[in-house]
Amino acid sequence: MRVLGISGSPRRGGNTDLLLAEVMRGAVSKGAEVKTIILNDLKITPCQHCDACLEAGRCRIDDDMQQVYRELEQADRVVLASPIQFMGPSAQLKLMIDRCQALWARKYVLKRPPLKDRRERKGLFVAAGALKKADLFLPAVTIVKAMFTVTDISYAGELLFPGIDEKRAIAGHPEALSQAFRAGEKLVLDC
Ligand SMILES: Cc1cc2nc3c(=O)[nH]c(=O)nc-3n(C[C@H](O)[C@H](O)[C@H](O)COP(=O)(O)O)c2cc1C
Repeated sequence: MRVLGISGSPRRGGNTDLLLAEVMRGAVSKGAEVKTIILNDLKITPCQHCDACLEAGRCRIDDDMQQVYRELEQADRVVLASPIQFMGPSAQLKLMIDRCQALWARKYVLKRPPLKDRRERKGLFVAAGALKKADLFLPAVTIVKAMFTVTDISYAGELLFPGIDEKRAIAGHPEALSQAFRAGEKLVLDC
């Protein structure tokens, strides 16, 4: 089983990265092969709405998103992780999600499987935000669910941590980290 983790945080080694690392450690402990992508390290152009994907079923922009498409196609489980920024996912993650328009075209216009094969894929969403506000995670969860729906990845759950702001603040919450580890284990075991 291959688990792909995607971090949308600009802060290397921050809360999102620490949580994602625990999920991936949990997955490895149950025998998964894992790959982590740090979106902030990639050069991904925003979707240009050129509509080339409507005919080609692929995005014509030749940038680092091509590598993300390939990893999504190879994954059995996908973990999206992001800080909350201005009430939504980070720009890095939203940019990647918008480029999934090519997968939308593949599925809804060309009637082909969005990720090439029809294996069962599951996805988990992990997020941390500074505030302790009702509905803090609602916009991000809605966006991530939309991406999973388009790509035929079933929503396996979410780990949402409010009140987490300083870099590595999550390290002071061992229960949160063990929750992340267990979620990684469960993601692999729930077949
Ligand atoms: C540009 C920016 C916008 C942010 N907007 C919000 C917000 O709307 N709500 C919130 O609770 N936290 C917000 N935060 C705080 C981050 O979500 C918080 O610090 C988080 O723990 C960062 O995770 P990281 O260490 O993985 O980057 C924002 C931070 C930045 C840099």
